[in-house]
Amino acid sequence: MAVTNSAGRAATSGAVATPGSLVFPADFRWGTATASYQVEGAVTEDGRGPSIWDVFAAEPGRVHAGDSGERACDHYHRYPEDVALMRELGIDVYRFSVAWPRVQPDGRTLEPRGLDFYDRLVDELLTAGIDPMLTLYHWDLPQALQETGGWRNRDTAHRFADYAGEVFARLGDRVAHWTTLNEPWCSAYLGHFTGLHAPGLTDARAALTAAHHLLLGHGLAASTLRASMSERHRLSIVLNLASVRVDEDDEAHREAARRVDGLQNRFFLDPLLRGAYPADVLADVSWLGDWDTAVRAGDEELIAAPLDLLGINYYSPSRVAPADPESVAGGMPGLRGVRHLPPRGTLTGFDWEQEPAGLRDLLVRVSRDYPEVPLMVTENGSAWPDRVEDDGGVVDPDRENYLLEHLRAVHAAIEAGADVRGYLAWSLLDNFEWAAGYSQRFGLVHVDYQTQRRTVKSSGRRFASVIADNAVPP
Ligand code: NOJ
Repeated sequence: MAVTNSAGRAATSGAVATPGSLVFPADFRWGTATASYQVEGAVTEDGRGPSIWDVFAAEPGRVHAGDSGERACDHYHRYPEDVALMRELGIDVYRFSVAWPRVQPDGRTLEPRGLDFYDRLVDELLTAGIDPMLTLYHWDLPQALQETGGWRNRDTAHRFADYAGEVFARLGDRVAHWTTLNEPWCSAYLGHFTGLHAPGLTDARAALTAAHHLLLGHGLAASTLRASMSERHRLSIVLNLASVRVDEDDEAHREAARRVDGLQNRFFLDPLLRGAYPADVLADVSWLGDWDTAVRAGDEELIAAPLDLLGINYYSPSRVAPADPESVAGGMPGLRGVRHLPPRGTLTGFDWEQEPAGLRDLLVRVSRDYPEVPLMVTENGSAWPDRVEDDGGVVDPDRENYLLEHLRAVHAAIEAGADVRGYLAWSLLDNFEWAAGYSQRFGLVHVDYQTQRRTVKSSGRRFASVIADNAVPP
């Protein structure tokens, strides 16, 4: 991708980083990420159809305090202000997602006004010298497709490829970087097994089938996109991989770790990058039954379409230990004989543990085991109970600390040989945090949801200085 950020780094080139700073490679990319339903609002505007998240959020008890994405950060109308904020931070890349129900309100028929919005957004970004990185699916499936089975229905994978083609036809001339899915593990398991996310099902078999259809959708979309892409385009998928931690190195602990790593990591990495689902993981879930009918001849070949980049989202480690064979961690298929251990140390929002070394080890491991694909940290961040001070500022030293520690970990991973091309902070703005509604703030920029006022937090300013220096203080 040729676009460099004239707004940020070039303007400050010549800045001298603190002695001993950890300097990143010259072409390292810095950015922030958001997702359509979490920031846009305007859920009925310009012909947008309902998504599974509109429907789920309207069901009593599903989302904290009955919150929804109805207004969110009103980014649909305020995107010029938000792009100006990104320019102020000096970022190179903005990762955002397209809302499928804006583009195809019924999951099939094109609504050009939906694409008009992304057209305006992309132009605004390019004018600001920011490289758009577009995610096609960040969880807001058109409700109409849910009504025909959603991701349990193989046809949804075909619908996704069709939608991908429509978005590319409109934006492929200006958007170089295309991501198919965000965190398919979450869509499959949180959406179909724990029921914590839309569509709120609690059926282990449905979760596995959905996981395969999501990956198949990725593969089908990849062939559609590749048919129109040129040299300057890049294709990726974003996974939330587990950094699995055990306290002992005996056989029982290794087996517990194998199961968690298998279900959350290799179940996705292997078909994408090695052409086949891992046999040991399939054996662990074989009791679920209809896997063999879901996976048809040729599917794995489609899923293994070459990738230009793998996005990794990382927040917190997964601590596990062996348990008696009857217990199944979280009731999750495949996690028989495993239990989750409580988080340690100072916790962030959601009671998530901070373990930067987990990010370093994950990047090193993925780079070692799947060496053919470059990596990017496509999300990393922390939630804290920020508030606007009397002087109008927002000071968030805990987020600054989390950010710097994790950037040091990324630097250490690169030093250890991992091919990491960039880091995108989650998130540009405080936003709708799914089942937690507006109770968790992840932004580098504070949003007052009553007034929609944006305030850059001290962590945002810290990130801007890291970007300007292309380095983290030691
Ligand atoms: C990952 C998801 O992609 C994003 O939507 C979410 O807000 C963050 N994790 C924080 O939970």
